[in-house]
Amino acid sequence: MKILVTGGGGYVGTRLVNKLLDLNHEVIVVDIFWFPNFLKKRKNLKIIKKDIIQLTDKHFKDVNTIIHLASIANDPASNLDPKLTWEISCQGTMHLCELAKKNKIKKFIFASSGSVYGIKKEQNVTENLSLLPISDYNKTKMVAERVILSYKKFFSCYIIRPGTVFGYSEKMRLDLMINILTFQAMTKKTINVFGGKQTRPFIHISDMIDIYIFFLKKNKKPGIYNASYGNLSALKTAEEIKKIFKKCKIKIMKSNDPRSYRLSSQKLKKTGFKFKISLHEGINELKKYFEIGKIKNTKSAYSINWIKSKN
Ligand SMILES: NC(=O)c1ccc[n+]([C@@H]2O[C@H](COP(=O)([O-])OP(=O)(O)OC[C@H]3O[C@@H](n4cnc5c(N)ncnc54)[C@H](O)[C@@H]3O)[C@@H](O)[C@H]2O)c1
Repeated sequence: MKILVTGGGGYVGTRLVNKLLDLNHEVIVVDIFWFPNFLKKRKNLKIIKKDIIQLTDKHFKDVNTIIHLASIANDPASNLDPKLTWEISCQGTMHLCELAKKNKIKKFIFASSGSVYGIKKEQNVTENLSLLPISDYNKTKMVAERVILSYKKFFSCYIIRPGTVFGYSEKMRLDLMINILTFQAMTKKTINVFGGKQTRPFIHISDMIDIYIFFLKKNKKPGIYNASYGNLSALKTAEEIKKIFKKCKIKIMKSNDPRSYRLSSQKLKKTGFKFKISLHEGINELKKYFEIGKIKNTKSAYSINWIKSKN
């Protein structure tokens, strides 16, 4: 199957593209490559270094499915240039949808975010709850979802709302909570936790990728799906990491961000999808990659610092 992956050079994209190629799919990556490219030349892989807004019909020949990951991918980076965030998420997404419609694409799978709900008092944050996004990043994800769903007559739309992803990718991100806390435990022997009570939904990158592939392969009901293995406070997460790095200390620092986010993934589980990687297994995997030198403290692993340094 021929699949077009936008943002395929990013943290999730790089690992996803390699797995799609392992499964013998033909993959077109469209990425502006803000970060260095960690995708190696491979059979069935075509890389187009472009902004999604520059795509035209010729890029969609025989494409069956679009997996749309391209975005400014967190709050602080979006705050650097809110206008650009809106342009990429909304105009860029609409441009893709128009091309998808014209070229008779079958499926459109979108990486939204669990943060579109904003702060909820409900313990079970399910897909039917109202959306009250707070930041530009969250708001543009919500609008992009609506743009995509307005094309549901023309192709099957799958909107995935993931929690914070963690785990190894060839294009590593160390600005994600579990990744950075594990990196601190490994290198500094101290885990710095800001506040500690704030809850975050989390998902291992390998489960994240399997969800995209699950909706690609199976003919499941189109719609919106939360995607998180579980919800855990920052302190509990640090305690889990300490179980593996026994000698490290946990240091609680003052935080002025008391926000907690949670997600319920019951709807996704009812489709038959099974999460495979627990927090404990995922942290152990990170440890293994640190130990064999595959994870390095490079500048490009911190999205905001990297983007700032390039402007
Ligand atoms: N990583 C997470 O914890 C997480 C959680 C929830 C949702 N998501 C979403 O999943 C997607 C992938 O996240 P990630 O962590 O891999 O982010 P990332 O920043 O590593 O990757 C995003 C990629 O998109 C590319 N890009 C940005 N704007 C583009 C444009 N206009 N045209 C072409 N390419 C463009 C960037 O160059 C980058 O390679 C994002 O949409 C993100 O919002 C990520």
